[in-house]
Amino acid sequence: MSTPTRTQSTEQRPPALNVEAIRADFPILQRRVHGLPLVYLDNAATSQKPRSVLDALTRYYEQTNANVHRGVHTLSEEATAQYEAARAKVASFIGSCCPKEIIWTRNASEAMNLLAQSWGRANLRRGDRVLLTEMEHHSNIVPWQILSAELGFEIAYLRVADDGTLILDDLPRLLDGRTKLFSFTYMSNVLGTINPVVELTRAAHRAGALVHLDACQAVPHMPVNVTELDIDFMSFSGHKMLGPTGIGALWGRRELLNVMPPWMGGGDMIREVHLSGFKPSELPWKFEAGTPAIAQAIGLGAAVDYLERTGMAAIHQAERELIAYAMERLATVEGLRILGPAADQRGGLVSFVLGDIHPHDIAAVLDNLGIAIRAGHHCAQPLHERYRIPASARASFYLYNTREEVDLLVKALHKVVEIFNF
Ligand SMILES: Cc1ncc(COP(=O)(O)O)c(C=O)c1O
Repeated sequence: MSTPTRTQSTEQRPPALNVEAIRADFPILQRRVHGLPLVYLDNAATSQKPRSVLDALTRYYEQTNANVHRGVHTLSEEATAQYEAARAKVASFIGSCCPKEIIWTRNASEAMNLLAQSWGRANLRRGDRVLLTEMEHHSNIVPWQILSAELGFEIAYLRVADDGTLILDDLPRLLDGRTKLFSFTYMSNVLGTINPVVELTRAAHRAGALVHLDACQAVPHMPVNVTELDIDFMSFSGHKMLGPTGIGALWGRRELLNVMPPWMGGGDMIREVHLSGFKPSELPWKFEAGTPAIAQAIGLGAAVDYLERTGMAAIHQAERELIAYAMERLATVEGLRILGPAADQRGGLVSFVLGDIHPHDIAAVLDNLGIAIRAGHHCAQPLHERYRIPASARASFYLYNTREEVDLLVKALHKVVEIFNF
């Protein structure tokens, strides 16, 4: 594992990343695509995995593999200890008071479905309102729409201004006593906008609403501390933060989780079962039915170790610098329009449209040059409708991306313009 090189050391400025050493930790970055070195710019969809995470997975399967919380044999005890240790690492990584506040899920989408089906079903009635924003991922819209169709509560959306920031003037009207939950994204996966979480949370709490943060695009990229943010629930996915697929988490304040009913039944989530009924287990297991994603949780623990060793403040700073550079360079491409705010208000991703060239055509040309970007509506169709575009292209960065890769992206986009000749 690489250690960041300290090129500058002031109180405010985190150490610069040693990107070359970091890249050496990611085997896939040695790959060639269509004969050219891979330039991986689809990190908002999923990140690549360092050797230490891959090794943790292999080690688990080679040395430990057993079911958790069940056997009294050595392997099962070791598997349980490693699985629960990963939970403790993740809890500490996000500033939670205790591991039992981390509920493992398959991904962030499942975390939000858990929140809707458990907290939502128990607390929302006709006449209530759930407040979302126009920039949400489908995972923070559809679970509420499914539940609202059944329970009859209202869903309202805080609007997005042309510049990609939230229109805060509407908040007082939308946060009246009827709003029971304000659920919003920390960072938009399309616009890159970093929302003012503390300000939004204070406003929601003043109006008596709880706050759920979709932190899928934040937890991997910047320091996130749930206690300092003073939020109530948070969802995130392991695969976007160097961990394996198949593992994510819902974090919630203990006192809220404690009184929420289980949402899936099965083994592991019960204290006792009789033909006449059951008593649920305690936190966090009452929400985790069946054999969990053991190796994946352990792999996520290794990912958290890697991120902590590298430094979240350093990662965030490096991405801020890279996105500022990328936006400056992208502005040289004729006909390219960037969605979202200025670089200083966003994280490390940029979505754009290029004349009337379809984003899928852009992505296909780039793929031929070894460059992986995302094209489509990025699971945020309402946001694209708000901008009256069917789709966009998105380049999203992470700790291993370089300025040279930005240059390759920009050069390739000039070529796209040439090919489509507009
Ligand atoms: C902001 C945001 N929320 C939710 C999700 C859903 O994550 P997952 O597919 O891992 O459940 C994503 C993934 O792209 C995202 O970017």
